[in-house]
Formats: sequence, C-alpha cells, structure tokens
Amino acid sequence: MTWLITGGAGYIGAHVVRALTEAGERTVVYDDLSTGIAERLPDDVPLEVGTVLDGVRLSKVIAGHGITGVVHLAGKKRVGESVDMPLHYYRENVEGLRVLLEAVTAAGVTSFVFSSSAAVYGMPDVELVTEDTPCAPLSPYGETKLAGEWLVRATGRTTGLATASLRYFNVAGAARPELADLGVHNLVPMVFEKLTEDAPAQIFGDDYPTPDGTCVRDYIHVVDLADAHVATARALAASPGRDLTLNIGRGEGVSVREMIDRINAITGHHRTPSVAPRRPGDPARVVASADRITAELGWTAKRDVQDMITSAWEGWLRRFPGAARL
Ligand code: UD1
Repeated sequence: MTWLITGGAGYIGAHVVRALTEAGERTVVYDDLSTGIAERLPDDVPLEVGTVLDGVRLSKVIAGHGITGVVHLAGKKRVGESVDMPLHYYRENVEGLRVLLEAVTAAGVTSFVFSSSAAVYGMPDVELVTEDTPCAPLSPYGETKLAGEWLVRATGRTTGLATASLRYFNVAGAARPELADLGVHNLVPMVFEKLTEDAPAQIFGDDYPTPDGTCVRDYIHVVDLADAHVATARALAASPGRDLTLNIGRGEGVSVREMIDRINAITGHHRTPSVAPRRPGDPARVVASADRITAELGWTAKRDVQDMITSAWEGWLRRFPGAARL
C-alpha cells in the first residue's frame, strides 16, 4: 500500500507519517503548510504542497504516486475559532473532505482513515463515553467532524471504500522534541507557557461536579495515537468494505488540577495555580471507553501521563531553553 497523509506536516500528522514509515508502509504527504512544517518530515517522504479544496491537484497526486490508501488529517481544529468562523470551518473540514472523497473514489483508492474528535460527543453525561453514546457537538468544529464521519460512512457504503473514523480524545506528548506541538491551545502547552512567564497556571473553573471540582479528561500520548492509525490502516487494507468508528483514548480520567500538579513535579516549577472562571462550553468529564478499538484491532495505549508531560516538556525546552528550572 502507498498511503497519502493529508495534513502530514502537522503535529499529529507527522507522528502518523513516522509510525507508518517505521511500520514499513510507503507514505506521501499532502499539506498546505498553513500550520504544517516541512522539516517535521523524514527526508525520504515526498511532500506535495496543496489544499484539499483543490480536486484537480489531489487527483494528480493520487495518480502520480499510485496512492491506494488515505489518512485524512488536514483540517481546522480550534474550537473557539470555529465559533467565530463557522463558514471557514465548514469549507475546510466538510467541503475539503467532500472534494478529497471525490478524488479518492474516482481513483479507486481502497482505504480511508478519517481524523475525527471526541468533540462530536459534546457534553456526555456518562462515566465512560462509548462510540454509541449519542453525538451532540457543541461547536461548529465538532459539527464538521460529525458531518465528516457521515460523509465518509455514506461514501464507503456506496463505493465499497473501507473507512474508519478515529475519535481522538486529548492528545499530548511527542515522539521527539522536534515533533512537539507548537500550538499553545491546549492544557499542557498553556500551562508550560505560564510557567515560562513565571506566572501561575490557570484552572478554568474548580466548581464542577467532579472529585476535585476541576474538569476531567482522557489524555492520550501522540505516539500511541499514531500507532492506532497504523493498526487501523492495516485493518482496512486487509478488509475491503470495513466501516469502523473508534474512540482513541486510555479510559482513564485525569483532572486539570492533577495535570498541573504532575506538570509542576516534572518541570520543577512550583507555583500554586490560580482559579479563573469556567471556560464556556467545557464539559465536566469526557473519558473514553477504549474497549471497542481493543476488541476490533488489539490496540491499547502503552504510554501514561508522565510520558506525555515529560516528552512535551523536552519539546518545549527546545524552543524555550530559559524555561528550565531543574
Ligand atoms: C479541546 C476541544 C476539543 C478538541 C481538543 C483537542 C473545547 C471545548 N474542546 O478539548 O474539541 O478535540 O481540545 O484539541 O475546546 N484548561 C485549564 N487551563 C488552561 C487550559 C485548559 O483549566 O490553561 C482546562 C480546560 O478548561 C479543560 C481542560 O483543561 O477543562 C482541557 O482543555 P483543552 O486542552 O483545551 O482540551 P479540551 O477542552 O478538553
């Protein structure tokens, strides 16, 4: 198989490329480099620069490289931004996917892995979220991911394309410092940024109905997430017509306060966090049941929160050496 990885120069995409190539698969990256970085890619992986809205170019790339499978990660992923720019998100995430699927089906590609999100669930009122928990996204971002899943599944049904939608929970960590997330949009890098400024980390609300009052999430190491893509890609390649929807999490809830305590212990920064108002739209608890992916593919996460924070911090120190305390 030769896999086209859209968004392969991004934080998660580059980890997926690395995992697939290490597993012996041929990969080609398609990325518009709006947030992707070419230097993240191994030298022997071809990079085609282009947008998923350009069907003509996609068709040329798919034919030119003899692509047989696609892992589609290209897209916009900032929840707040999606509230301000819904049309932009629908265009990039839904129209871009539709254009890509047109090129994919016309070319006879056999396998398609779609990058979805736990954001499809919205505010689930359950201890563990299964793939059958009703989806009720709270943001245009989550809506575009859910609509994307529908598009992918409907295309698979009519064309025989083997498909999978992978619902990522809270991704953190890095395989190597140079592959670390450069965005400061999620809890771990946002806390690192505060520590670097010698300011207290912020807890967005400590009056949630959780054991310590702070929000509980399911954090997954990006290397485990990338390995889940390899397992999924192989399963689709082996079973034409397969249709999977899978949570990718660890099934372990960790609170914001626990995460900040762990970050302080690992980085040697010991400022007491300050409590800020709740961030609108934050669910109290979102923790995956990862049973289905284990049953379907035999995949389980191998890395813990300690591994995530340690590897993310190494990446942070590469950019901000002055942040070191230990
Ligand atoms: C967010 C998105 C989700 C997306 C995921 C991965 C929302 C509502 N959800 O998840 O759709 O799939 O990112 O990109 O934005 N927090 C603090 N202090 C901080 C930063 C965060 O207390 O400085 C808290 C947040 O309020 C939240 C938790 O930490 O309770 C995790 O936040 P974050 O990393 O932004 O992820 P989610 O909001 O869970």
